[in-house]
Amino acid sequence: MTETDFIFNNINLSNITNGSITWKTPSNIALVKYWGKREPQIPENASISFTLDSCFTLTTLEYKKLNTERSEGSHDNTRVAERSRSHNFEIYFEGEKKDEFKPKITTFFKRIEKYVPFLKDFDFIIKSQNSFPHSSGIASSASGMGALALCIMSLERSLSGVEMTDEYFNRKASFLARLGSGSACRSIEGPLIVWGNHPEIEGSSDLFGVKFPYKIHENFKNYHDTILLVDEGEKQVSSTVGHQLMYNHPLAKQRFQQANNNISRISKVLQNGDLKAFVEIVESEALTLHAMMMTSNPYFILMKPNTLKIINEIWGFRAQTNSNICFTLDAGANVHVLFPESEKEIVNDFIKSNLMQFCQENHYICDSIGKGANQLLINS
Ligand code: DP6
Repeated sequence: MTETDFIFNNINLSNITNGSITWKTPSNIALVKYWGKREPQIPENASISFTLDSCFTLTTLEYKKLNTERSEGSHDNTRVAERSRSHNFEIYFEGEKKDEFKPKITTFFKRIEKYVPFLKDFDFIIKSQNSFPHSSGIASSASGMGALALCIMSLERSLSGVEMTDEYFNRKASFLARLGSGSACRSIEGPLIVWGNHPEIEGSSDLFGVKFPYKIHENFKNYHDTILLVDEGEKQVSSTVGHQLMYNHPLAKQRFQQANNNISRISKVLQNGDLKAFVEIVESEALTLHAMMMTSNPYFILMKPNTLKIINEIWGFRAQTNSNICFTLDAGANVHVLFPESEKEIVNDFIKSNLMQFCQENHYICDSIGKGANQLLINS
């Protein structure tokens, strides 16, 4: 599929006036990381993630059609004036009006307006909340942008004069979400999503995420991700700034190559169930992501002393018990502890006895692999 397949032109505004749409959309954690992109939100390498379950954003999009007539080819003056206005929306986060979130959403709406031109025909109120604490340092852009993209797709479906398959719906939702935040395109479906064109992943694309297309080994069913909240604060480096650090990075070319090689390797591992190889790829990816930040100009250290203490504890526990526990990191100090369902008792005990002490106020979140987003209700 190409970009033009996502341009909407079957508009039928007459059958819709106002209503609301709600989507619950999970976060995701990358196993092979996306770090480096080019315009328009095209990743420099393929990435793969587990879709999460308990960490999600709930977004309601209330829409009200602007009071204008639309007939094909109409150039009614009021309508032209209305349409030339900027996008009309208000955003509420956890019950509070958040004007500071508007620029990011305005940029998103501008990026996607070519594909969803009907956006300017409506006034919107966006109401969003997260299942995880806002200050937890867990990135909410993936679940947040994913949820908004899905709400917009539900509106498109109502406006569309033609049948839309679920496959197209999800593809375009992922395509739109990507234009809001790259990793968001991996939050629409589950349990394992690949984003970025890769010769060994059938159907993969730079434009949207696709479900991992091969049979996943039993070992990865209901995999766990316990998120240790080491640093519950604003991120020191936003991902957008982080990606820019890869532009002139001396190791960029090798890094993108390495990530694509790791996609080939992890694809085999996910099919053959080799947990030792899984651990090695996932931890190496996490440390490489941070190594990229430490070796960029300007350079950053996003890990905290407790991040390193946790990593060392995990390595010690693995050496002692032969467990398949491992860690991954995103662009921050929190640690995602990954482990198979069969080890959940011993690892949970270990987290309580040895790792919890390194979390801010002993906070951690137990999550596991999820199936993707759900629509909660629709009134139109
Ligand atoms: C480290 O998707 O947040 O989590 O596209 O600029 O919104 P933008 O970046 P974002 O980057 C995520 C980076 C990462 C790795 C990953 O999720 O693959």
